Amino acid sequence: MSSQNKTNIPNSLNEHWMPFSDNRSFKKNPRLIVEAKGVYITNHEGKKMIDGSSGLFCNPLGHGRREITEAVTKQLDKLDYCQPFNQGFGGSFELATRIAKKTPGDLNKIFYTICGSTAVETAIKIAVAYHKAKGHGHRFRFIGRERGYHGMNIGAMTVGGMVNNVKAFASILMPGVQHMRHTHLPEHKFVKGQPETGVEMAEDLERLATNFGGENIAACIVEPIAGSTGTLVPPKGYLKRLREICDKHGILLIFDEVITGWGRTGSAFGAIEYGVTPDIMTMAKATTNGVIPMGVVAVKDEIYDTVTEAASGPEGSPELFHGYTYSGIPAAVAAALAVQDIFDKEDIFKKVKEMSPYFQDGLHSLKDLDSVIGIRGYGMMGGIDIKMKDKPGKAGFQTFKHCYDAGVNFKSTGDTLIIAPQFICEKKHIDEIIEKLRTGISNYAKS
Ligand SMILES: Cc1ncc(COP(=O)(O)O)c(C=O)c1O
Repeated sequence: MSSQNKTNIPNSLNEHWMPFSDNRSFKKNPRLIVEAKGVYITNHEGKKMIDGSSGLFCNPLGHGRREITEAVTKQLDKLDYCQPFNQGFGGSFELATRIAKKTPGDLNKIFYTICGSTAVETAIKIAVAYHKAKGHGHRFRFIGRERGYHGMNIGAMTVGGMVNNVKAFASILMPGVQHMRHTHLPEHKFVKGQPETGVEMAEDLERLATNFGGENIAACIVEPIAGSTGTLVPPKGYLKRLREICDKHGILLIFDEVITGWGRTGSAFGAIEYGVTPDIMTMAKATTNGVIPMGVVAVKDEIYDTVTEAASGPEGSPELFHGYTYSGIPAAVAAALAVQDIFDKEDIFKKVKEMSPYFQDGLHSLKDLDSVIGIRGYGMMGGIDIKMKDKPGKAGFQTFKHCYDAGVNFKSTGDTLIIAPQFICEKKHIDEIIEKLRTGISNYAKS
């Protein structure tokens, strides 16, 4: 290790309690990233790796985009903060207009939050506020889905369906939440794109409406593609059927597009790609290319109108008693506006659509490896299931470590690898990701 790189290791790793991490193992063998440019990241040992998951789905436009850095710097020089309650600045309104142009249907009202979790929490509260404003306060139940991930605050965690997250905090979950079964069926092991079978899994919503009374359910929340459990692609017709059942019972449909939003599927949103418009939609991550935290909730005009018109407080009193100190702060807005410019200038969603088949073919070329027991994907996201050796939940991380050594970085969950290349990837970058995955997975199998 050069002395330059050594200086990038802090004196002590003890004090930082890392999120969603095995702190003890990491601190014995740290993986510190010191630089990121384009599709590559470099660790503290000077090792350059290709970014196979767009840094937790955050940086699809590539690392170190000068346009974004410059826009943020310029904004900070001019106006670094202004309070977002009963006050504002022009940028957040301009951004809302630009986002509303890209959202489907009449999802035209934009509420800013801090991240994906707070976007989901906001969506839950808006659903409650909407029903209350309509005089339907009895609608308090929420329906999520097994293997869904919506973040880690209490509401978002409760509607999520990742077992370990929920088990850890079982004593403080939000009341009135039920889950549909997930859609990953045994016959979906090596399916490219949307599975042909499984539409009937949507009937779980009808069943829950029957069991609990559809008139008591406020909203149903799903990710169009479940991302954090390893890219579970919706069966053909599934999302449309959820929409029909929601309409029948007056249930709001929420799409959590924190991962699928902003191009991951080849359209701006999963909702557009699959032709199903929800009532509320959440986004985060790629909204600012990951450089400054920001979450967004897009809401149908009718929901906004109902909530704001029902408010009866004195002037200056909020119509919705909800918001964050960092809702749409200038630096985040500047980054998001620069991202919008790049989307438009570089026709990014079209680029994703064109590159997706090449990526999906590459992913499925790994099928011949003995330890690969499932591959699936859509657009520029994919999941690879790895055969476990002794007990469940270890194979993903063990394989990740071998792949990291082979020169490709990504996230694993349980026994699954989550692969999500950046949208700026050329074919040679996809080839590099696939080749290094092959090396890493093979080395895991030999270990
Ligand atoms: C679909 C989805 N919703 C919500 C979240 C939570 O986002 P955050 O970690 O920014 O709070 C995530 C995070 O991965 C996600 O994938």
